[in-house]
Order: sequence, then structure tokens, then C-alpha cells
Amino acid sequence: MTKVAPSLLSADFSKLGSEVERIERAGADWAHLDVMDGMFVPNITIGPSVIGSIRNVTKMPFDVHLMIEDPSRYVDAFAKAGADMLTIHTEASGDTGAALMKIRDLGLKAGITLNPPAPATDLDGYLDMVDLVLIMTVQAGFGGQSFQESGLKKIAYVREYAEAHNPKLEISVDGGINRETGKRCVDAGATVLAAGSSLFRLGDMASEIALWKSFGPDAGV
Ligand code: DX5
Ligand code: ZN
Repeated sequence: MTKVAPSLLSADFSKLGSEVERIERAGADWAHLDVMDGMFVPNITIGPSVIGSIRNVTKMPFDVHLMIEDPSRYVDAFAKAGADMLTIHTEASGDTGAALMKIRDLGLKAGITLNPPAPATDLDGYLDMVDLVLIMTVQAGFGGQSFQESGLKKIAYVREYAEAHNPKLEISVDGGINRETGKRCVDAGATVLAAGSSLFRLGDMASEIALWKSFGPDAGV
């Protein structure tokens, strides 16, 4: 079964707590939380204090996507805030391997991600240090962009590694995911679909999430 991780970037921030409850009721597996620092990406979003305050309203795993420079500076703070998974970019400054080790040392799941222009081989050397690979199918920084096809080959590259070395590796995809692109990503080997705008604009998020969860090697659609 495919996991679905709605991105709260598309939520109504004036009522973030009830938006978290809404995705949980709709059957979300994880909450995808996008942290942007205005340096690694032009946008600024939320930090540890907001994540800490919504931690009280749900037991859903928090899948925190760090779009920040030198992420190891903030690993402790996000761990204390209640993150379950911390995903960092290969393109961010600082020692990526050391940051991944720090995440795992604190008992969190570690994730690695890369933007569309970066080749899949940029993941080599990190794949045995992570629990999650996040394939970006838009340039990190904003919601509501169109899906970039180049991600499909990267998913297949990571899937091949996972089958040979780490069958438990989660392969997530983020950016422009809807029922059509999401299905293609699952067919290519993704196990998690992160999506903001296509889910939050729906009145009935639950039936859409149920459909996405049914995607798998044998699913029709
Ligand atoms: C973009 C973020 C995404 C974003 C996706 O930088 O990492 O998680 O919320 O939004 P959609 O699903 O609208 O492309
Ligand atoms: Zn994201």
C-alpha cells in the first residue's frame, strides 16, 4: 500500500491545528512539513516552534523536509520539536553525511533529497545512511508547480538500489503530485506520495487519499 503524506504548506495557516486533524481524519499516513529558511530557497515558512505546537494535536509521524542551509545546526531543535523524520538536501551547505549521522544518533529517521537538476548519482554515498529518499519533482521552494518528468528515472534508480540493498527504504516523491503523476511515480517504484495543492483544494480529501493508497504494482486505475 502506498503511503500518503499531505504537505501542510497548502494548509490554511490560520487554523493549522485543525488542518492537521483534517488530514489525519482523511487517512494521511504522515504529515509532510516544509521548512524553508529564505536562504537555501527564497521562501520562509515554519520552524521548530510551530512544529512543536502542532505535535500536541496528532500522533501522525512528522516527515520534516528541511530546505535550509547547513541543516545540522537545527537537527537538535527539530528532534526536540517532535519530528520523526528529517530530510536534508544534497545541495545544502555543510557536511551532509555528518548531518545524516546526527539525525540517526538522535533516534530519528534520516532522509536525503535533491532538486530536479541534480543527477541521481548525487545520492551515491548517502543511500546506505538513510531511511528515506525524497525525489523532488519540482524545484524546492514553492507549492503549486508542475510535475517534472525527470523524477521518474531517479525513482527507478533508487528502487533498484533499495531492492538490492535495503528493501525497507522509503522512496517518497514531492512536487506536482496528483492522482495521475502519483500513479506514475508508484509504478516507477515510489512508496510515499507527498502532495499539497492537489489534496488541499479538495472538499473530500479522504476518498482521494484512499485512491492513492490503493496504488501499487497490481492496482488498476
Ligand atoms: C515544495 C515543497 C512541497 C510542496 C508541494 O518546495 O517541498 O512539499 O508543498 O506542493 P505541491 O504538491 O502543490 O506541488
Ligand atoms: Zn516538501
